[in-house]
Amino acid sequence: MSLSIFITGGTSGIGKALAEYYLEQGHRVAVCGRDETKFSFLKTQENISYYQVNVVNRDEIYNAVYDFHQKGGLDLIVASAGVGFSRKTKIPDFQRSRDIVNINLLGVINTFEPAIEIMTKQKSGHLVAISSVASLCGFPGVSAYSAAKAGVNKLCEGYAVDLREYNIDVTTIAPGFVDTPLTKTNHHPMPFLTDIDVARDKIVKAIESKKAFFVFPFFFGVMLRFLSIIPRGLYLKMMKLFKFKYAKPKD
Ligand SMILES: NC(=O)c1ccc[n+]([C@@H]2O[C@H](COP(=O)([O-])OP(=O)(O)OC[C@H]3O[C@@H](n4cnc5c(N)ncnc54)[C@H](OP(=O)(O)O)[C@@H]3O)[C@@H](O)[C@H]2O)c1
Repeated sequence: MSLSIFITGGTSGIGKALAEYYLEQGHRVAVCGRDETKFSFLKTQENISYYQVNVVNRDEIYNAVYDFHQKGGLDLIVASAGVGFSRKTKIPDFQRSRDIVNINLLGVINTFEPAIEIMTKQKSGHLVAISSVASLCGFPGVSAYSAAKAGVNKLCEGYAVDLREYNIDVTTIAPGFVDTPLTKTNHHPMPFLTDIDVARDKIVKAIESKKAFFVFPFFFGVMLRFLSIIPRGLYLKMMKLFKFKYAKPKD
């Protein structure tokens, strides 16, 4: 059965890998992003549409999701649009922190608003958010990223309960480091870096099996889940044992 799938951030990295996979499977796909030049790779394919959208702008994403739905339905929406910190700093970059919370958390709320309106009426659908392992603990040097992704986790957990009676599934994916353009500019070490094709296969499987919360890679997930449940005082003591590599002020 062919599905109608909307993917924010579908022009790069994880979102793009999912878009290519779903197109290959014969589904109808829309991707969105701010920079239209990133879409050129998919232009030649059939069954794909592009919306130039900033997910922080409520009206832009709202109208795009409705337009896609009116042209052929909406079964699955993946909120993958996101940005990170390429540098870990001891003193936060506050402007970047605001941008990250706006895009990575508010952007998910804006994306799911039209989808939930549509899916509650049709009494079916699947919401997927790409969170991060950084949501499990306050990651040093990138606190606002951790905070935004932890917000995504809780948002989706609540939606999953609220939307059960409308037959809407909600899946939160928390990847570790994945080799994408986002991580290419990282200045810090990236343990357990996962190849994009491996990451895509794991995400597709988690979506198909309608998992509520899926963390990968396995060992990184186990470590971080452990760190997330120990008393916070102990967590801080353990973190003192590590020497984190911070960027110099003017890197
Ligand atoms: N790569 C990793 O290691 C990793 C790990 C854990 C979680 N994640 C999460 O996975 C998601 C995808 O990351 P990625 O690695 O695939 O990054 P990526 O390759 O940089 O792709 C990010 C995508 O999001 C879009 N985007 C960014 N800001 C946007 C905005 N304001 N409005 C609309 N679209 C926007 C970008 O398009 P434009 O630039 O054209 O807007 C691009 O299509 C993010 O939410 C990220 O936090 C990534």
